Amino acid sequence: MRLVPVEDIKPEMKLAKSIYHNNNILLNTGVKNLHRYKDRLKNIGINYVYVEDKYSTDIKVDYVIKSELREKGQKKIRSFMEDIRFNKSINVSQIKDTVSDIVDDILNNSDNIIVNMLDIKNFDDYTYEHSVNVAVYSIILGKSLNYNVRDLNKLGVGAILHDIGKILIPPEILFKEGKLNDEEYQIVKDHSELGYDYIKDAREISPVSKAAILSHHERLDGSGYPRRKSGDELHDFAKIVAITDVYDALTSDRTYRKRWPVHEAISYIMSNSDQKFDNYFVDKFVRNLAIYPNGTMVRLSNGQKAIVKEQNSNYPTRPILRIVEDAEGNEMVETMDLLNNLNIVIDEVY
Ligand SMILES: [Fe+2]
Repeated sequence: MRLVPVEDIKPEMKLAKSIYHNNNILLNTGVKNLHRYKDRLKNIGINYVYVEDKYSTDIKVDYVIKSELREKGQKKIRSFMEDIRFNKSINVSQIKDTVSDIVDDILNNSDNIIVNMLDIKNFDDYTYEHSVNVAVYSIILGKSLNYNVRDLNKLGVGAILHDIGKILIPPEILFKEGKLNDEEYQIVKDHSELGYDYIKDAREISPVSKAAILSHHERLDGSGYPRRKSGDELHDFAKIVAITDVYDALTSDRTYRKRWPVHEAISYIMSNSDQKFDNYFVDKFVRNLAIYPNGTMVRLSNGQKAIVKEQNSNYPTRPILRIVEDAEGNEMVETMDLLNNLNIVIDEVY
């Protein structure tokens, strides 16, 4: 399968991965004549879909965790946040169980790499999907730091709950299209303190998980918020979630901008490491990342268009490709290993 922008869907493509909207299946795997749904998908904010076509039948896309688990995680975090909105008592054990399942899934999968999980994103569900993504990325990073299961669970709980305070921000501000004014931006910034206030007395949540909720927007140099903490004042979990949060936000489509390609998000984070982000964690994170995940469509420096077919382990910028178009735009089908073609680089990601 491969990932295509919705506007590039062709009649011969069929859907390779179900599309969910508001936790319901909108389109099932295998749906044909996908092009008929283009406008509808665009309207609800879905910009990319996984498809099967003649170029991509043998391309395997990696999943970081089982998709059922991801959907379950989104449901749980949604109902948790709705309880907060309606000022009900919160059910921490459901969140803990979900995180524990995610940790198990990640630990049982021997070599997890972080691939951006953008396929079913849409605006309404953004916060829930984002919460689960940040938890998954943080747990994978924690695994590579050799954290034990208990710490992975605490990190995962902090990560999945990091943005719970957003439910207390007026939706007209949170989902405003276009730029926020200063006053609105200040209100949005309150979410970390609001979220922390809501759960600070919950004894079932570890203080280190709470640190991630309160301090995920703090930056190493003290330039973050809400309390302008810096350096050693920040718990490692807050430093980790700061990185995974920004990474997922940048690589997601938002109402006001399109997602950034993975390599651009990485260079943004790397260029800010040591000032804003912890260098050591950034380095570990980047080593676990698939820069060009399988199924991604790319343009090469020689003008050819290709689909990423397979990764070359230890060489994340030089995957094996399926060339589908020559520089003049004519169809061609050929396999190319970028490790054997060092004069060619990936120039652009679609
Ligand atoms: Fe946040």
